Amino acid sequence: MASNHLTGIGSESKQLATWYFTFAFILFGAQLLFGLVAAIQYVMPGFLFEILDFSVARMLHINALVVWMVFAMFGAVYWLLPDETGIETIGIKVGKLLYWVFVAAIVVVVLVYLFIQVGPADEMSIWFIHEGREYIEAPRWADIGIVVVALGFVANLFLTGMKGKQTGIVTVLMADMIAFAGLYLTGMFFTDNISVDQFWWWWVIHLWVEATWEVYVGAIAAYGLITMINANRQVVEMWLWIEVAMLFGSGILGMGHHYFWIGTPEYWWEIGALFSALEPLPLVAMFIHVLYDWGKQQGKAVANGSEESVINNKPAFTWFILNAFGNFLGAGIWGFFHTLPQVNLYTHGTQFTSAHGHLAFFGAYATILIGMMYIAIQGTNGIKVMKNTKASIWAVSMITGGVMGMTIALTISGYVQVLVSRAQMGATWAGYFDGQAGMWFAQGMDWRLIMGVITFLGFVVLAKDFLTTGKNPVHER
Ligand code: HEM
Ligand code: HEM
Ligand SMILES: [Fe+2]
Repeated sequence: MASNHLTGIGSESKQLATWYFTFAFILFGAQLLFGLVAAIQYVMPGFLFEILDFSVARMLHINALVVWMVFAMFGAVYWLLPDETGIETIGIKVGKLLYWVFVAAIVVVVLVYLFIQVGPADEMSIWFIHEGREYIEAPRWADIGIVVVALGFVANLFLTGMKGKQTGIVTVLMADMIAFAGLYLTGMFFTDNISVDQFWWWWVIHLWVEATWEVYVGAIAAYGLITMINANRQVVEMWLWIEVAMLFGSGILGMGHHYFWIGTPEYWWEIGALFSALEPLPLVAMFIHVLYDWGKQQGKAVANGSEESVINNKPAFTWFILNAFGNFLGAGIWGFFHTLPQVNLYTHGTQFTSAHGHLAFFGAYATILIGMMYIAIQGTNGIKVMKNTKASIWAVSMITGGVMGMTIALTISGYVQVLVSRAQMGATWAGYFDGQAGMWFAQGMDWRLIMGVITFLGFVVLAKDFLTTGKNPVHER
């Protein structure tokens, strides 16, 4: 990675990757700001009332989340593709054009969310304002635009993968991205029956995050291990195939854990319970694999008489390790807690769900995508060994500590809801309000806000590090 990416093979692809990362990072900041607004509204319900209501702030928060991650995911593929295939990405000019289409569409959508906010319950709103589908609210015109951009991206990936060297990582990504793009279509049509609508909506939401995004992360982690600690490709790719099999094997039918209470047939209780309970297994495997490879490479270096760390990008590797652990903790452990129908009966839709949602999205995806951004900074600046800076350590500590703090606060608030609203009061209307009025619940909301502020400050420090670390003289060039 010593050569500057602007001169080497694949420089165009890598440049496009940095564009994708930049916009992703800006949206990440916007996500956190709208999260803060929504968190303040839990504590001070009148805050920005009728200017930016909770429903709008929340929608912006979680849609910005999904979109920034998709941008960063595309960026990471454009970054690694030349390294893996040995050639420049095919169709890169079209890729760059589609990038601007994507950015323009997202900017318009955000402005509509901010200033128009809601429309009448008719087709016009579905086409031009939003679809009323949590996480993927983009109005239909933008949905179609996103599909065009995604197809262009998949085409670039396929044409390049077929012409260049076909590594296991590229092959997995090719298969995975077809599923990724295809599943988006299941969230694009509208039915009057809310059960049918939810049935398909979960095909995007669950199958995306627990199947295609997880496989994607497996591929990126494999690439990271090879580039950062020089792990053996054959071993890494062998693990990758096992992970793919385990992730799809458990994740596809694991979708049943969202079919407990939406009006789908009862056999989903058993299917959902069994398969989703298996979902943590690949996450444990991925965690062990990353630590094992790291230990092995370092052990080999020590045996050869070297005292030095084998890691050539400290900040990125820190985020990759956090990914392996955070994925296991946030998705695996926090997910497993509420995945059996017997438990979910009490926890469904409480702050416990939100605790899991935060730690899982952060642990499984935010971490590794931030890591990829550090890899791009290393490559762009021609750095041989990238060290941690004060800012990179502060950023990772504040962001991770903040999200972990929010998760703990939400878990405590969630337990109040489970005990008071559900167990004691039997999920009644009055029970809902009694739960919300509980002291522990309210304090959990205060702490979530405090921890959210810490997370946001960590983001500011991370931005500072991203802008300055490339030129910092501490790195080996
Ligand atoms: C990286 C992977 C994962 C991510 C990003 C993730 C994220 C989320 C999010 C955001 C929700 C809330 C959905 C909503 O708004 O209704 C949710 C719900 C849920 N997740 Fe996950 N999850 C992941 C993996 C898992 C795993 C591995 C399990 C089980 C072992 C699991 C179990 C559940 C269950 C049972 C629910 C439903 C909660 C309820 O009924 O309120 N998740 N997940
Ligand atoms: C400044 C930090 C943050 C604050 C203050 C914050 C606050 C919030 C609030 C108030 C909600 C609405 C919860 C509800 O409907 O009851 C929410 C939802 C959500 N946030 Fe955040 N958030 C922050 C950062 C993050 C991060 C870093 C992620 C993931 C990477 C994330 C992912 C989510 C998800 C997935 C939901 C939907 C959860 C669900 O419906 O169960 N947030 N957040
Ligand atoms: Fe799920």
